[in-house]
Amino acid sequence: MQPSKMGLEEARHLLSNCVLFRGLKPEERNAIVNRTRTRTLKSGETVFSMGSPGDHMMAVLSGTIRISVPAPDGKELLLAILQPGEVFGELAVLDGKERSADAVADSPCTLAILDRRDILSFLEQHPAAWLKLVSVLCERLRRADQQLAEVALLQLPERLAKAILRITTNEVKPKTSPEKPIIQFSQRELASMVGGTRESVNKCLAAWQRDGIVQMSGGKITISNMPALKFISEQG
Ligand code: CMP
Repeated sequence: MQPSKMGLEEARHLLSNCVLFRGLKPEERNAIVNRTRTRTLKSGETVFSMGSPGDHMMAVLSGTIRISVPAPDGKELLLAILQPGEVFGELAVLDGKERSADAVADSPCTLAILDRRDILSFLEQHPAAWLKLVSVLCERLRRADQQLAEVALLQLPERLAKAILRITTNEVKPKTSPEKPIIQFSQRELASMVGGTRESVNKCLAAWQRDGIVQMSGGKITISNMPALKFISEQG
């Protein structure tokens, strides 16, 4: 990681969008910003690896962070792509155990880093922030349960259709029409989201392309027939 060139004012502004620090009074926000270090990362740079000790948590100020669990054969299960305003690294900070997943910059990023001591004293002084942190954990547990149920109970086409529909609501390319959204995810990334292989995802997408449901070109996937994709996602 490299020291950030981001100014204090910008960090303060971006931190106010963070789920934990929204709604703070300016002087409270300043107090937390004063205890925060910022770091920039290049795309692909590792923030931390699963199994490492962790005594700090992070807020994404800009860029995106990929949270995944690696497999011995080089594959991975993608748990989440975190957007600006989201926090991560809270588990090891709260329970004192090892990092539960890898965190890697998915694009050039700036992170705000808070040491355990500071985050715990912040939470003690702002009990309302505990509730926000707990709702982040609840949301992640819900999504993880959903992902587990999908991998265990659904066939690949349904899982893939659900994953693509989720992406179209969260991360669609700007300026695309809601009827024909465009997403930019590689087949390897889609496979790691749905617990499949790249080959099986490729086979499924190729069949959908033949049926006019999607159109693949230049690393982008256009959803040409949303009703058909929704129908496939509801088959399970
Ligand atoms: P920690 O265990 O300290 O390090 C890995 C981090 O990844 C973890 O804290 C969480 O912040 C984050 N994380 C783990 N599982 C998920 C998930 N299913 N969805 C989103 N983030 C997660």
